Amino acid sequence: MKLLASLTVFSLLSLSIAIPYEEYILAPGSRTVYPVSVHNSNGSVSDPSSLTSSSGSSVFSNDAATSYDFGKNIAGVVTLTISSVSDSNQAIGVTFSESSFWVSNKSCDATADAGKDETLWFNVTGPGNYTAPRDKERGGFRYMTLVHEGQGSVEVTAAEVEFTAMPHWESEFLRNYSGYFHSDDELLNRIWYAGAYTNQLCTIDPTHGDALIHIRQINSSVSDATNVTWYYNTTITNGTSALVDGAKRDRLVWAGDMAIAVPGVVVSTNDVVTVENSINSLFDLQDPKTGAMPYAGRPFPSIFSATYHLYSLIGVGDHYLYTGDVEYLKSLWPQYKAALNYSLSSVDESGLMNVTSPNDWLRFGMGGHNIEANAILHYTINQAISLATALNDTTPIAQWTSIASTIKSSANALLWNDSLGMYIDNETTTLTPQDGNSWAIVSNLTNSTQASSISQHLSSRWGPYGAPAIEAADAVSPFISGFEIQAHFLASNTTAALALMRNMWGFMLDDPRMTNSTFIEGYSSSGELHYAPYLNDARISHAHGWATGPTSSLTFYVAGIQILSAGGQTWRVAPNVGDLKTVEAGFSTSVGWFESKVQVGDGQGELRMEFEAPVGTMGEVVVPVACEGNVTLSSVDGRFGDAVVLVESEGSWDVAIDGVGGGKWAVSVACN
Ligand SMILES: *[C@@H]1O[C@H](CO)[C@@H](O)[C@H](O)[C@H]1NC(C)=O
Ligand SMILES: *[C@@H]1O[C@H](CO)[C@@H](O)[C@H](O)[C@H]1NC(C)=O
Ligand SMILES: *[C@@H]1O[C@H](CO)[C@@H](O)[C@H](O)[C@H]1NC(C)=O
Ligand SMILES: *[C@@H]1O[C@H](CO)[C@@H](O)[C@H](O)[C@H]1NC(C)=O
Ligand SMILES: *[C@@H]1O[C@H](CO)[C@@H](O)[C@H](O)[C@H]1NC(C)=O
Ligand SMILES: *[C@@H]1O[C@H](CO)[C@@H](O)[C@H](O)[C@H]1NC(C)=O
Ligand SMILES: *[C@@H]1O[C@H](CO)[C@@H](O)[C@H](O)[C@H]1NC(C)=O
Ligand SMILES: *[C@@H]1O[C@H](CO)[C@@H](O)[C@H](O)[C@H]1NC(C)=O
Ligand SMILES: *[C@@H]1O[C@H](CO)[C@@H](O)[C@H](O)[C@H]1NC(C)=O
Ligand SMILES: *[C@@H]1O[C@H](CO)[C@@H](O)[C@H](O)[C@H]1NC(C)=O
Ligand SMILES: *[C@@H]1O[C@H](CO)[C@@H](O)[C@H](O)[C@H]1NC(C)=O
Ligand SMILES: *[C@@H]1O[C@H](CO)[C@@H](O)[C@H](O)[C@H]1NC(C)=O
Repeated sequence: MKLLASLTVFSLLSLSIAIPYEEYILAPGSRTVYPVSVHNSNGSVSDPSSLTSSSGSSVFSNDAATSYDFGKNIAGVVTLTISSVSDSNQAIGVTFSESSFWVSNKSCDATADAGKDETLWFNVTGPGNYTAPRDKERGGFRYMTLVHEGQGSVEVTAAEVEFTAMPHWESEFLRNYSGYFHSDDELLNRIWYAGAYTNQLCTIDPTHGDALIHIRQINSSVSDATNVTWYYNTTITNGTSALVDGAKRDRLVWAGDMAIAVPGVVVSTNDVVTVENSINSLFDLQDPKTGAMPYAGRPFPSIFSATYHLYSLIGVGDHYLYTGDVEYLKSLWPQYKAALNYSLSSVDESGLMNVTSPNDWLRFGMGGHNIEANAILHYTINQAISLATALNDTTPIAQWTSIASTIKSSANALLWNDSLGMYIDNETTTLTPQDGNSWAIVSNLTNSTQASSISQHLSSRWGPYGAPAIEAADAVSPFISGFEIQAHFLASNTTAALALMRNMWGFMLDDPRMTNSTFIEGYSSSGELHYAPYLNDARISHAHGWATGPTSSLTFYVAGIQILSAGGQTWRVAPNVGDLKTVEAGFSTSVGWFESKVQVGDGQGELRMEFEAPVGTMGEVVVPVACEGNVTLSSVDGRFGDAVVLVESEGSWDVAIDGVGGGKWAVSVACN
């Protein structure tokens, strides 16, 4: 009994161990949030800055407005404290905007396909606190404008926001990350934390989902869409938290978005329950007859997408990879197999899947023997094989292996174009898409020659604002570019991967129209806030989980900690530091703590590494070596005695040491 009690105390203590570099975390330290500065002020407003940081006193008289800046994108319910009014017919309006570009005293930015969202008005009849109705929270805004119109005056003594993201975490623990990243490049550090925070803002109370309340009613054909109503009151999943695509919009579960967001969540907050609520909501909508998965979660209209169908399965595969939770996997396995069989039924005699539904991430030309869809299918089947192996469900493995191998050979025979050095979108075109070529590398359709060729061709297309997605008109897609980053790492070009992160994600942080805290859904190749699939620029979401690719890539590829199976029962530590001098990262899964620290020495080729993996696990360390010399691996915690592995390297290539047990290790590279 006594022992049990002390063990409990120990595990509680170990949960609250502080993560280093906490100062980079953008989440607030409490749910009560105030503006940090005045963005601009018009008309008669006394001492507008008194409402920053805490309460104060500002009198708004006649036609007057002040826009406040929270310094970063936030989400929440506004409360105005009014201490006096000139008469009982006064009103204060509030407008919200994620981007400085849409700050206005007439409207918010947008959630519908046309127009701008209406001002939130409070009739202030006398002193008191005026709180927005709960369904009138705003899911993403950096700027909040207080507006007074007409005769009279109102004294405002506080303008505070109750932060609503991460609803299932206690107010004082919003910054309790389970992972960290740090390097000698401040921009990359900020990118990692902004990605983590973007995913937190996209973690919402599932009873306040769905910003698309005017879907198919207000679109670009509604020319006089002004003062568009908005509210969030739809229940989108069970449970108390849901991972959605965007903080402001759509506030719906989209499996494709999760393929990028979930690994970012794992390395920062490891908020697995939220991921489960979202996956469950998709399987709840599976067609029991065909096995078809929904394009998006409820209440989105029932539509099929061959790729998003597969992304739901990748959600299950990723969940098992990062948690090792075999019971959860078992609970979805029959539905998973029905869904996979549905995809396999559209593989035709060419050996490739023939896509007959155009829906994807809003690129055009999704159809036929599409390379992206087939690469995703190839990836999914290989993941299915490892899931079936974990469950000892060996029956389907031979057939799946054979189909996967045919997809690979057919894709290379029919869609690889040697003179273009890339895959074409389908047999009828010479368009070489960003999505399909990135995914081909990620899903291992390529050999190393093809991978370098794709990597070079993709990087040769970059413009000043990033990587274009030519399969979506004039779009830059932070979603697909997240896969492109992985592709450059897998093609062994760390320089290209880091350059793309710095250029594109640096722009997304530092441009004054951006939030300096969260990542945008999409924009144009000329850097305008215009995303080709949408006609209404004010509608673009500035906090989109699908844009957080660098967060997991910095941890998995740069610090090099890779989970290979079952929550980390097997792993690989394989850093790719590029031009960085120091890199460190760590994160927890249910299996335990993983950490890697790399320090490049002053001398040519010198490198020191330390890494840690949970006791009882097993892995491989891959050491980058840039010289002839010696690689030494030694046990730091003494768990493996004085074990020292010495490898002589004869040149500049990676040295892999397999069969390394969990524990603390040090590695050094010394050149001759
Ligand atoms: C505020 O007052 C106006 C005018 O009396 C009224 O039309 C409107 O419905 C009121 N708004 C709210 C939110 O009560
Ligand atoms: C109004 O809100 C403030 C916090 O801003 C709080 O201190 C005060 O007690 C509230 N007043 C009422 C009447 O609820
Ligand atoms: C929109 O609302 C504003 C008040 O916020 C009002 O002045 C304006 O007339 C409204 N526009 C329309 C077209 O209703
Ligand atoms: C959401 O709010 C709208 C507008 O007030 C209302 O018509 C609708 O019935 C509400 N839906 C739910 C699910 O509460
Ligand atoms: C919640 O779970 C129940 C039982 O599985 C299911 O019937 C219901 O549709 C789910 N609701 C949502 C919003 O996912
Ligand atoms: C083949 O790809 C091109 C370029 O993306 C596209 O225009 C065309 O519609 C695609 N074919 C099918 C059947 O989807
Ligand atoms: C894909 O299937 C559709 C519908 O059956 C058919 O019209 C189309 O020709 C097929 N595409 C290819 C590339 O076989
Ligand atoms: C699969 O079989 C192995 C070896 O018999 C066993 O240890 C493991 O528990 C089984 N896994 C499941 C999920 O049944
Ligand atoms: C990629 O495919 C090749 C065979 O085509 C295989 O040898 C290799 O192990 C695969 N790589 C991964 C990471 O699965
Ligand atoms: C890689 O694949 C391409 C296309 O299938 C092929 O032409 C080439 O010979 C392969 N290269 C190697 C080294 O296997
Ligand atoms: C790696 O990418 C960089 C930047 O795009 C490029 O300059 C370089 O040539 C590439 N290296 C290789 C080996 O392809
Ligand atoms: C952007 O945010 C960082 C903190 O993440 C801060 O140090 C920097 O000053 C901000 N930049 C601007 C222009 O506000």
